[in-house]
Amino acid sequence: MWIIQSNYNSEAFYNDLEKELFSLIDGEKNLYANLANISSWLFHTIPDMNWCGFYLWSESEKELILGPFQGKPACIRIKPERGVCGAAYTKATTQLIDDVHLFPGHISCDSASRSELVIPLIKNNMVLGVLDLDSPHVSRFKSRDAENLEQIFSKISKIIF
Ligand code: SME
Repeated sequence: MWIIQSNYNSEAFYNDLEKELFSLIDGEKNLYANLANISSWLFHTIPDMNWCGFYLWSESEKELILGPFQGKPACIRIKPERGVCGAAYTKATTQLIDDVHLFPGHISCDSASRSELVIPLIKNNMVLGVLDLDSPHVSRFKSRDAENLEQIFSKISKIIF
């Protein structure tokens, strides 16, 4: 395993994070094992989060269903028209929400969450799930986080699914 754990505030952070995540999934094909390690590493390297994990699209049930995560227990099923995760899924775009209290339809799994970043996981032009990051601080996530994670997960999604 190739781990650097550079400081979050350093310029190198997201470059190194990408290498670390690729190292974590290298040689492993099991989706749930890979998502579990990815959520763990994100949770332990990106500061000021209270929840971090995945919802995967179920084509048979037409819902997002809770996958591997770090944090308190969360709601299991999210309909595509609901919440920040549903918006990321249906619009196939990253949702950067400075204050979840101002987002109509936000689903409050952990009442501590105040800001949220949700990245759609896309392969072959299909959204197969979302990565959801929650913070207890308003405006915790910046466009730097959104752009870098979007880039990293556009590559990772092509490999893990
Ligand atoms: N807040 C999300 C639901 C998932 S939890 O935050 C873990 C939403 O509005 O979609």
